[in-house]
Amino acid sequence: MSDIRCIGIATGGGDAPGLNAVIRAATKAAILKYKWKVIGIPDGFDGLIWPEKSFELTLEKVSGILPRGGTILGTTNRGNPFQYKTGKNGKEVVRDISDQVIANAKKLGIDAIITIGGDGSQKIGHELFKKGMQIVGVPKTIDNDLSATQVTFGFDTALHTVTDAIDKIHTTAASHHRVMVVEVMGRDCGWIALKAGIAGGAHVILIPEIPFTIGHICKFIADRDKTGRDFTIVVAAEGVKLPPELKENRRASSVGNLIGNAIACRSHKEVRVIVLGHIQRGGTPSPFDRLLATRFGVAAVDLIAAGGYGMMVALHGESIVSVDVAHAIGQLKSVNPTGEVVRAARAIGIGFGD
Ligand code: F6P
Repeated sequence: MSDIRCIGIATGGGDAPGLNAVIRAATKAAILKYKWKVIGIPDGFDGLIWPEKSFELTLEKVSGILPRGGTILGTTNRGNPFQYKTGKNGKEVVRDISDQVIANAKKLGIDAIITIGGDGSQKIGHELFKKGMQIVGVPKTIDNDLSATQVTFGFDTALHTVTDAIDKIHTTAASHHRVMVVEVMGRDCGWIALKAGIAGGAHVILIPEIPFTIGHICKFIADRDKTGRDFTIVVAAEGVKLPPELKENRRASSVGNLIGNAIACRSHKEVRVIVLGHIQRGGTPSPFDRLLATRFGVAAVDLIAAGGYGMMVALHGESIVSVDVAHAIGQLKSVNPTGEVVRAARAIGIGFGD
């Protein structure tokens, strides 16, 4: 029998469709299956700096949130209790307030915490766990770059959004005989660009894992033109490694614009750039993400009941399993540049600018 009476739930990092579905499932399972009290911690671990802002999650509070994007708890991708930033006399001061955060969780009567987040949040959770906090993790990120789980919730919804956008861009690109550069999220890894690019019928896909040159892209476009296909859709992950001639301007403009301008200069084609941005993080979660988030939420509660602290729930094949958080945060899950998905894309003529 576990001696848990009360758990806390925190969402950290960039939001992703399905966060509310996890909060709902974990709250329901904790109350209905284990009769625990559940406390919602606002804005990631920042919420434990001001414990009075935390509030009880009841069945009523989580009713109706399953299809809602965002997170009812709020989130931040700047908060880190080990490097908490404040201002003093106009200067930035960085402090370690992790002891205060742990003490405040105790004050609230929280026995264990579910931290729903990506690489950054799981790293913070792991450090707090090493200091004695009873933590279990739920993996989240639209980028799908967290290791030790086959997939994170939020990714599938983002793929739907990007694929839909590329479908719409096709008709206008074809009508105007243009090159359309679509910049998508993926700070470090190219999963969204690769999978939505293939699903949306993109012609060129640029990802951080495969170096490219503007010359190769322009040659690809010219070859298409020669065979009467006078429009090209280029999907670029925001995290691509820019060729040397574009690198110095990286901070001045979005990578989509830099790549688009460079193509326009070299190919003399008309180019338009679309930066999809935070649209990819919004909207109602897809059925896949709702289901995965629900299973993760329930599994996280079961993991607490079993005393599996320092672990994270994960999807392996058809099953929800638990893994050591340390395995999830060691290294990001990158696209294999010679893997089956990239090879399938190349086999149908998609270019990677290399
Ligand atoms: O990690 C998810 C993500 O959407 C990245 O793809 C993107 O670079 C980042 O978050 C953007 O975060 P912010 O909310 O700070 O703009």
